[in-house]
Amino acid sequence: MYNFEYKNPVKIIFGKNTISKVANEVPKNAKIMLTYGGGSIKKNGVYNQVMDALKGAEILEFGGIEVNPHYETCMKAVEIAKAENIDFLLSVGGGSVLDATKFIAAAALYTNGDPWDILVKGGTVVNAIPIGAVLTLPATGSEMNGNSVITRISTLEKMAFSSLKVMPQFSILDPECVFTLPDKQVANGIVDAFIHVMEQYLTFDVNSPLQDRFAESILTTLIEEGPKVLENRNDYDAVANFMWSATMALNGLIGVGVPQDWATHGIGHELTAFHGIDHARTLAIVLPGVMNIKRESKKEKILQYGKRIWGITEGTDDEKIDAAISKTVAFFESVGLPTTLPDYNVPEESVTKIVARFKKRFYKLGEKSDIGYQEIEQILMDRF
Ligand code: NZQ
Ligand code: ZN
Repeated sequence: MYNFEYKNPVKIIFGKNTISKVANEVPKNAKIMLTYGGGSIKKNGVYNQVMDALKGAEILEFGGIEVNPHYETCMKAVEIAKAENIDFLLSVGGGSVLDATKFIAAAALYTNGDPWDILVKGGTVVNAIPIGAVLTLPATGSEMNGNSVITRISTLEKMAFSSLKVMPQFSILDPECVFTLPDKQVANGIVDAFIHVMEQYLTFDVNSPLQDRFAESILTTLIEEGPKVLENRNDYDAVANFMWSATMALNGLIGVGVPQDWATHGIGHELTAFHGIDHARTLAIVLPGVMNIKRESKKEKILQYGKRIWGITEGTDDEKIDAAISKTVAFFESVGLPTTLPDYNVPEESVTKIVARFKKRFYKLGEKSDIGYQEIEQILMDRF
């Protein structure tokens, strides 16, 4: 196992009827900006629960944050936060609202030039407005990590940053919020969480059996509980297990001490940037290609995954790897996510555009930094 340092300061408040606890967590006398998305929280009662709990507090609302949140929208919130001297940001919604809130928190106190640099030039986040979250959609793990992914519409770029400074002070996870999620979002959440695990697991062996088993336990739980949630949105126990799995998949714990890949996400973000495909769906397209093209360098781990998760024990190594890829594809499709580029009407010219983008970038993706633009082309062409 590699050396590591791990700190996760996010307080998780998990369970039924927990939203009212927001009142104990928000600092007294804070001037709060409540951030939210397209209005789901107003339809499903979450907004009312938060407002009831915070009666008497000074709250300014900033709604309309898009799915795959826009830099341009975040900057409007930054102007308001500065003008109004906001001292606490409360995100109420899914990963997009929370990611936007993290960027707003950092950009509002960024004094080192253009806040866009935080996303494209690794501009250090020295300070950020404190954040709290009420999470309504299990998927991204954003509720317990310091990551944020933002899209600049004017240039069609989807970029990420990460900082301890934007980790929420607390995140409230009431599984009952999932009861109102459409099938599509549940399926996206299952697959996003599944692939977060794969990015930290399907690499190469560094003798880390505990990390491997943490990862495998999350994969198995998602495979068992995910379909139950799809079948019956009011199955509280299944929903709770799904929600906690999604948080555990990307709160840093399973990734410490081991190599990490993230090529599937890196390539997937470009599919969202150019075609607006939902984040999880881009991953469902790309991961099977990564597994296929990197089958040699990931061999040991793909075989372990196939055996422990899908019970694949028969055949040559190549046959076992093929079977592991097929099982993975079948699982994504069984929850409703198509896995090829034609399924989303993506033409070959888009591959050319994406490859050209990566050609200009100086870095390579993957746990061995060996996925450059040529490999990215192979991976995407594998998905036709
Ligand atoms: O906008 P509203 O009206 O709230 O509706 C949302 C949105 O349309 C709706 N929704 C959320 N909770 C609901 C609900 N509808 C009914 N009932 C509820 N309880 O669901 C739709 C999707 O919401 P969104 O927040 O976009 O989904 P998700 O949580 O999957 O977030 C996706 C974003 O997170 C980024 C993705 O790139 C994408 O931009 N990611 C963030 C990561 C992180 N911070 O660590 C890691 C991930 O890999 C990912 O990249
Ligand atoms: Zn993801």
